Amino acid sequence: MSKVLVTRAVFPESIESLGKRFEVVTNPDDTPWSPDQIAEKLAGCSAAMSTVLCKFDESVFARNPQLKVVSNIAVGYNNIDVAAATKRGIRVTNTPGVLDDTTADLTWALLMAAARRIAEADAWVRRGDWKVAFGMHSFLGNDVHHATLGIIGMGRIGQAIARRALGFDMTVLYNNRTRLAESDEKRCNATLVDRDTLLAKSDFVVVMAPYSPATHHLIGAAELAKMKPTAILVNTARGGVVDDAALVEALRERRIAGAGLDVFEGEPKLNAAYLALPNVVLTPHIGSATRATRVTMCETAIANLTAVLDGRAPPNLVNKDVI
Ligand code: DGY
Repeated sequence: MSKVLVTRAVFPESIESLGKRFEVVTNPDDTPWSPDQIAEKLAGCSAAMSTVLCKFDESVFARNPQLKVVSNIAVGYNNIDVAAATKRGIRVTNTPGVLDDTTADLTWALLMAAARRIAEADAWVRRGDWKVAFGMHSFLGNDVHHATLGIIGMGRIGQAIARRALGFDMTVLYNNRTRLAESDEKRCNATLVDRDTLLAKSDFVVVMAPYSPATHHLIGAAELAKMKPTAILVNTARGGVVDDAALVEALRERRIAGAGLDVFEGEPKLNAAYLALPNVVLTPHIGSATRATRVTMCETAIANLTAVLDGRAPPNLVNKDVI
């Protein structure tokens, strides 16, 4: 019976499903393992089912020549050294598609919360600071309706975010490596522009690019300086795509109005300066966090690793050049 390592806690039904076909090694107390620990726990395992912050590098692969597949329970896979896996014939798979709408919803939750200062107002009410019934100047925010939304990275999630803007009568600009098909542009009511135009014209800038060396600090001091002082930045993609130190400065000096962030460089140790800033809304990497979506992500990851262990092509192979 093949052995499968599940690197973090998942759902009982996922373990039950895996257990019907495989011997399952779990991480009952859900401690994030170091690459060294992962390498050790992988002994004798043909497959790993992993989450986004479990690092699979060359050292892990070198110590586990029996490993056939790393099945990430995520659309992103920057936790895995894909080139090293490919060299060793290890399949890498992900879970695209099933979390698009859920992540788009959270992106909008952050955008709206930052625009209308929801977290700040909530904290104020809880502190007992609400002494006068109505204040003309209380918590004035930014209008979302009829504003301009700029999306950097117009894949499936970017497009799901854009489609939601239709209900707010927004102008939607996007920047992407390739132009969308005309039918998709129409469906999203979105116009392709260069990045500088997007930064200069948008009231809300949403970053939806995957992390790679090419997108490291895609939004840094220079890009923030091009945004309107009234603009709001939202990042639900990956930490490191935005330069956190530069964003802290821009928010502190009110060079932009606010931000909504679900991902950070060095998670979970985020830049402590964010905690003192009232104009940023912070969530702990929960873009895909609804039960239904997370269960479906686990099912997709199980289908991927099962296919590999059965000698079939997995539905969501990342390293298509693997032999
Ligand atoms: C992903 O899928 O890449 C998310 O970041 C984890 O839900």
